[in-house]
Amino acid sequence: MSLLVEKRILLGVTGGIAAYKSCELTRLLILAGASVRVVMTRAATAFVAPLSFQALSGNPVHLDLLDSEEESAMGHIRLARWADLILIAPATADFMAKLRAGLADELLGAVCLAAEVPIALAPAMNHAMWSNPATQDNAACLVARGMSLLGPAEGGQACGESGYGRMLEPADICRAVEKFFSRSQLSGISVLISAGPTREPIDPVRYLTNRSSGKMGYCLAQAAIAAGAKVTVVSGPVALPPPYDAAVVRVESAADMFDAVMSLAPHQDIYIGTAAVADYTPVAVAEEKIKKSKESLAIQLTRTRDILAAVASLPNKPYTVGFAAETDHVEAYAKAKLEGKGLDMIAANRVGQPEGGFDSPDNALWVAWNGGETVLPLASKQTIAIQLIELISENYRAKHSTKNSG
Ligand code: C5P
Repeated sequence: MSLLVEKRILLGVTGGIAAYKSCELTRLLILAGASVRVVMTRAATAFVAPLSFQALSGNPVHLDLLDSEEESAMGHIRLARWADLILIAPATADFMAKLRAGLADELLGAVCLAAEVPIALAPAMNHAMWSNPATQDNAACLVARGMSLLGPAEGGQACGESGYGRMLEPADICRAVEKFFSRSQLSGISVLISAGPTREPIDPVRYLTNRSSGKMGYCLAQAAIAAGAKVTVVSGPVALPPPYDAAVVRVESAADMFDAVMSLAPHQDIYIGTAAVADYTPVAVAEEKIKKSKESLAIQLTRTRDILAAVASLPNKPYTVGFAAETDHVEAYAKAKLEGKGLDMIAANRVGQPEGGFDSPDNALWVAWNGGETVLPLASKQTIAIQLIELISENYRAKHSTKNSG
């Protein structure tokens, strides 16, 4: 039986060409057993006639905030109370900006403002409009307030250009909405996250490090906390404020990080290794500052221990998630790492590109686990973190329910 049976979905349709796909979305939601009421913005009616949605949903379409007849029939407060979920598809850049600002100049804005139920958005817009910092900032803010983003997908767009910004296909939105109702949270779950770079000392004043800012790990910590988890971050040196409500253990070197993580990991439900741990460290640390007396200087390095692999081989290992930063063959290398290190999930990103990755506010991930894979398209690290925590939560629960029933 579909999880949507008897669920009441208020479908908000805003003014973009993808509105025509929301007719099919309405049909699929109804077929899955949901009750659907449609609220359209004025701009949306320029793309699709309200009558189409009325015929497909079997309910009158709600259009005007100030239509006294409609207000008395089912005003914005009652519509907001009626719904189990507000789904806005397509969500235009303009509507996302209005939602962020709390505007209620149209019925849909007023319903969202009055809503006490979850709101999910399926953005649809030109790729440049989606990646514009204004839209990204609005998206991150809406997500930080607890709203969910479904997509957008990458591909061809109505304007003839191509990139991230396509609305998810109606069937994918429908599946995401089903997942939404099954979405497990992380309350009562302990999550350990390693974050940031490490510093490998050469002498008392010098060290080897890398470009990691720690942002991905800190955003994941915040997202896990928002999902109800008890979070501990083992952090290399970063210039970020500590995640609100997380315990933070500060370390410098890969060896310190190894010790801190290994002492905490056996007591955790989930471990997420986002840290960019140095692969090599100087064999010996000079006790005094090395003088520039020679023409050349060789520093002998030795391999560090792999923290992630060590956590994954603990007898009672937590659900273990690793990261892979690759410049090429991202998926193949990441899959090899998933298997080689005995992980439950791997999140891979392409580095060395102009956008995303190390020291960037944005990221895009390819995520794989035993039996599945998905892409989290380029978005702010905050948004990506929330989506990744949802994936981890779902897979963690799935693994534990099979464990418990098997
Ligand atoms: O093998 P590679 O370094 O590419 O794997 C990256 C993943 O392994 C990241 O999750 C990183 O945090 C983790 N790692 C680790 N300890 C190391 C090296 C990498 O935990 N010494």
